[in-house]
Formats: sequence, C-alpha cells, structure tokens
Amino acid sequence: MRNSRWAVWLAVAFSLVVLISPVTVYAAPPTDLRLATSSGKVIASFTGAPGTTYSIWRSTGSVAFAKLSSYTTGAAGASGTAVAGWTEDPIGKAVTYTDTTVQDYMDYYYYIQNDTDAPATLSYTLPAFPPTQTAHGSYTQDTDRCAGCHSTHSAQGSKLLREATVDATCKTCHNGTGSKYNVADGTVLVPNGAGATVAKNAPAGPFGAQDGYVYSGTKPVTSQHQVGAKAINRAPGGNYQGTGPGWTDVLTCGSCHDPHGSSHNYRLLRGALLDSPAIQVTAYAGTVVAGDETARYQAGMNTFCAACHKDFNVGPGSGSTAPAETYTTTAGSYRHAVGVAPSTKSLTTAFPLEGPAGNNTDLVFCLTCHRGHGTTATGPSQSAYDQNGDSVVNGLDSTTAIKRADNMTICQDCHKK
Ligand code: HEC
Ligand code: HEC
Ligand code: HEC
Ligand code: HEC
Ligand code: HEC
Ligand code: HEC
Repeated sequence: MRNSRWAVWLAVAFSLVVLISPVTVYAAPPTDLRLATSSGKVIASFTGAPGTTYSIWRSTGSVAFAKLSSYTTGAAGASGTAVAGWTEDPIGKAVTYTDTTVQDYMDYYYYIQNDTDAPATLSYTLPAFPPTQTAHGSYTQDTDRCAGCHSTHSAQGSKLLREATVDATCKTCHNGTGSKYNVADGTVLVPNGAGATVAKNAPAGPFGAQDGYVYSGTKPVTSQHQVGAKAINRAPGGNYQGTGPGWTDVLTCGSCHDPHGSSHNYRLLRGALLDSPAIQVTAYAGTVVAGDETARYQAGMNTFCAACHKDFNVGPGSGSTAPAETYTTTAGSYRHAVGVAPSTKSLTTAFPLEGPAGNNTDLVFCLTCHRGHGTTATGPSQSAYDQNGDSVVNGLDSTTAIKRADNMTICQDCHKK
C-alpha cells in the first residue's frame, strides 16, 4: 500500500521535473560558475542540467583556450558515467571539476562550454591564481571573505567598510601585503622558476605615492589617475558640467573596479558606469615565468575608458573630421582614431592592440598608447586641461598623460616616419 502510494508520488514528481526542468529549473550554459583555488589545484563548480554535456576550457593567458575534459550529467535523480576529475550531485545537479594540472603562481582562466546546445554556448570566464583564494567574487555560500573588506558592527566607513574609504580598504591588500599586485609600485609577484616569486611589472603601471600609498620604485611616476583627489567630472573629454549622480564623486578604485566582480569583466572592471552603455571588457593576463605580466586584450576597453572620456572614443576614418563633442559648447577637436587596424594602412606595431588575432589586424585602442593606472614614461610634458579649462594635475600645468612610452615613441613605432 505504502509502496504503491510512493510509486504514484514518484511518478508525479518525475513527470513534473521532466515538464518543468527545461524552462524553469536549470539555466544553460551554467550561469553560476565558481572557482576555488589551493596549492596545485583549481576546483570549478556550477549547477548543471540533466543529460547535458559540459566541457571545461582553460587558458594560461594566451588567447587560445584548450579543452581539459568533458562530462555528461545523468538524467534527473541519477549521476552520469564517471569521468576522472568530475563529481555530480544527482539531485541538485551540483557539478565540480578538479584541475590538478596547475602550477602555483601562474594565471589561469576558465570557462564551461555547454556542448549539448547547438551551437555550443559558453559560461562567463573567471580568473584563478593558485594557491591564493581570490578576495573578489567566486564567493561560496559559506564564504568568510566578506570580512576582508566589511565589518558588521565596527566598520570605519559607510557601506560597512573596514577602513574609512574605498581606496584605504583596497590599500590594506594592494600595497604589497595581501595580494600579488602592489598598485603603488605597479608590480606583480610572478614565479621565479625555483618555487618562489619575484616582483615584475604589472600591466596597469604604477600609481606612485598618492592617497596614502607608499611608492618604493626607483623611477619617478610622471602621471597617473589621481584617485582620492579629483572629481570624475574633471576627466578630459567627459561631462565637465556633470552634476548628476556619479559625475561629482571623487575618483576612487571603486569608480573603475567593482569589488565584488559581479560584472564578470576583465580585472573586475565595472559593467555599468555613469551614463555609458553596458560595458563588457574581455582580456586575459598571462604570467610569464620570471617575466613581466602582459595582457591579451580582446574587446570592450574603449567603451570602458569612454564612460568618463566620452569625446576621445573616435572611430575609424573620423580622425580627419572634427567630431561633435558631447559635452562642450565650443567646436570639436580632431582626435586620433581608435577601433582601426594598423594593417589597413600597412602599419605595424609592437604595442598592444585589441582583438582575437594577435597581430596587426587587431585594433588600435586606448591602451595601445596609455596605461590604466600610471606611468614612469618621461618626455616633454603636454598641457593637460579638463574641459573646464582647469589644470588636471596637482599644482602643475603639464603631464605625460599616462603614456606607455617615453616622448612620442608610440607614434613612431607604428607610423615609422
Ligand atoms: C575586496 C573588498 C570587498 C569584499 C571582499 C566584499 N566587498 Fe562588499 N563592498 C565593497 C565596497 C568597496 C563596497 C562599496 C560600494 C561599491 O563600491 O560598490 C561594497 C558594498 C557592498 C554592499 C552594498 C552595495 C551593494 O552592492 O549592494 C553590500 C550589500 C556588500 N558589499 C556585501 C558584500 C558581501 C556579502 C561580501 C562577501 C560575500 C562582500 N561584500 C565582499 C568591497 C568588498
Ligand atoms: C583582503 C585583501 C584584498 C582587498 C582588501 C582587496 N583585494 Fe583586490 N585582490 C586580492 C587578491 C588576493 C587578488 C587576486 C590576485 C592575487 O592572488 O593577489 C586580488 C585581485 C584584484 C584585481 C585583479 C583581478 C583579476 O581579475 O586579475 C583587481 C582589479 C582588484 N583586486 C581590485 C581591488 C579593489 C578595487 C579593491 C578595493 C575595493 C581591492 N581589490 C581590495 C586581495 C584584496
Ligand atoms: C581610471 C580607472 C581605474 C582606476 C581609478 C583604478 N583602476 Fe585598477 N585597473 C584599471 C584598468 C583599465 C586595469 C587593467 C589594465 C591593463 O591590463 O592594462 C586595472 C588593473 C588593476 C589591477 C591588476 C594589476 C594590473 O597592473 O593590471 C589591480 C590589482 C587594480 N587595477 C587595482 C586598483 C586599485 C587598488 C585602485 C585604487 C588605488 C585602482 N585599481 C584604480 C582601471 C582603474
Ligand atoms: C571613472 C572615470 C574614468 C575612467 C573609466 C577612466 N578615466 Fe581617465 N581620467 C579620469 C579623471 C577624473 C581624470 C582627470 C583627473 C586625473 O588626472 O586623475 C582622468 C585623466 C586621464 C588622463 C590624463 C592624465 C594626465 O595626467 O593628463 C588620461 C590619459 C586618461 N585619463 C586615460 C584613461 C584611459 C586610457 C582609460 C581607460 C583605461 C580611462 N582614462 C578611464 C576618469 C576616468
Ligand atoms: C598602433 C598603430 C598606431 C599608433 C601607435 C599611432 N597611430 Fe596614428 N594612425 C594609425 C592608423 C591605423 C591611422 C588611420 C586611421 C584612420 O584613417 O581610420 C592613423 C592615423 C594617423 C594620422 C592621420 C589622421 C587623419 O585625420 O587622417 C595622424 C596624423 C596620426 N595617425 C598621428 C599619430 C600620432 C601623433 C601618434 C602618437 C601619439 C600616432 N599616430 C600613433 C595607427 C597608429
Ligand atoms: C595613438 C595613441 C593614442 C591613442 C590610441 C589614445 N591616446 Fe589619449 N593621448 C595620446 C597622447 C600622445 C596624449 C598626450 C597629449 C597629446 O599629445 O595630445 C594623450 C592624451 C590623452 C588624455 C589627456 C588629454 C588632456 O587634455 O589632458 C586623455 C584623457 C586621453 N588621452 C584619453 C584617451 C582615451 C580615452 C583613448 C581611447 C578612446 C585614447 N586616449 C587613445 C595618445 C593616444
């Protein structure tokens, strides 16, 4: 009696699952990918759908992702055929893959591909740097990592921040103590090939001594984004009259980065900023043993920079016409094009371009000529004014404009005049 009642219930429950699951219960591809790291190990976890084939792909910073393994989940309530490295919870469909082929102190990027979808669909991409647990995003349900930045009852800053400001909160780790990235010095710890680490240059360059950071580099920092000092409406080419939410805020680490990584953008860059269209930045930074960390930029950085510097985002060919300025009432300026390939003008460059090819058919973008944080490049300084006519540099009227290289090296490298 009891048994047959159960059988009926099971049959009803099973048919409900079959009816409902494709539309309501499971999302494909996995939308909740998480990574956990420890020495020599990266564990990827996500919620799967029944009877679906997933493959896990990894990059060590180069553009090419390689497939590590694939696994097909079982029907509802059952596990699939065992594959080394994979586990599956038959009821909740929590799926994990453990990658034990990683080296400590190397950058890795992972995504999950849903191979049952035609064409195959991808999850977002997440970074991992074993053995460190990243402080940002990939939070598990029982995480203790909120405490790195928040304090529930004894916070010093608003939003329950442990320190008085966002920048001071970031500084507790990014001053060389709690992360491999020291943003004042612009350095990163990379493997030295002998089981330890050595400090090398990081892609964004040094901020130098500002906003309470201590700079220990030898070359003077000649220009930088002045965090903690300037209002966002001082951004050249931006909305100098901007009084709306955001524009009058002081520039902080949190203006550009989302500390929780919710946008799944490269380097936690914000997915929503001021009145910009949605921002999706893709790139992969790769550790070179005992060498500088370099990034392979794929897409989206011009949109990011242009959230604040709108008028500088000038498309191909339009360098020869004065573009309408978004926020000034005076006539526009001629500006160098971005989003155009050097190859279209038979030019070549060793500076970074943005795109998947890895050669001169990729596109000129803001970071071809600039760094994201600061620079030690030297040369005759250019006058720098915001669109209000005020100097944007502390007490000085000239700057090296966060350029990648000394003088006008960048121009000559590509144009070869
Ligand atoms: C690396 C530092 C850092 C960590 C770790 C961190 N936060 Fe935050 N959080 C911030 C900062 C900075 C803000 C201020 C608002 C902003 O810049 O988005 C913030 C704001 C918030 C807010 C209010 C604004 C919003 O986005 O809703 C909540 C809620 C929050 N954090 C929850 C959490 C929880 C929960 C965790 C752990 C799972 C966590 N945070 C981990 C830095 C951090
Ligand atoms: C509790 C320490 C801690 C605090 C506080 C902290 N970070 Fe981090 N941050 C880390 C660690 C750890 C990593 C991962 C790289 C590594 O292993 O050092 C990281 C990585 C990053 C990265 C690179 C992410 C990537 O995809 O490679 C950015 C950008 C970043 N942090 C910004 C911030 C900002 C902005 C704040 C302040 C809101 C902040 N961090 C506060 C520890 C911290
Ligand atoms: C104006 C925007 C902006 C501000 C402000 C900013 N960042 Fe960044 N940050 C970037 C960009 C863009 C990159 C990626 C640069 C690249 O890969 O070339 C980056 C990269 C990083 C990285 C990765 C290391 C590296 O050198 O690439 C860390 C860590 C980081 N930022 C932390 C911070 C902290 C901490 C602050 C505040 C002191 C801060 N950022 C302020 C835009 C910003
Ligand atoms: C959140 C807004 C914001 C974003 C995003 C932003 N900037 Fe800025 N930028 C500013 C502000 C504000 C200033 C003026 C004050 C200062 O120098 O820090 C500025 C100044 C500059 C300067 C002039 C610095 C000098 O010393 O003359 C350059 C060059 C620059 N930004 C390039 C970039 C690039 C490249 C990006 C994208 C990687 C970018 N910015 C993203 C706000 C932003
Ligand atoms: C990575 C390669 C690259 C670099 C670096 C570069 N350029 Fe260009 N430049 C181009 C390309 C490509 C065009 C063609 C743009 C178009 O017509 O759409 C161009 C166009 C020009 C033009 C013609 C503009 C017009 O209106 O026709 C001038 C002048 C110029 N660049 C000067 C410079 C200067 C000065 C620098 C250094 C600040 C520089 N370039 C750096 C690739 C580069
Ligand atoms: C081809 C190289 C090149 C590219 C690409 C480039 N810049 Fe610049 N940028 C420069 C140089 C060189 C300066 C120094 C001032 C000058 O020579 O006009 C400069 C100056 C600036 C300044 C300071 C202007 C001022 O009035 O103080 C800002 C802001 C800026 N660039 C933002 C951007 C943004 C945002 C992008 C991408 C949309 C970008 N740049 C793309 C070379 C470049």
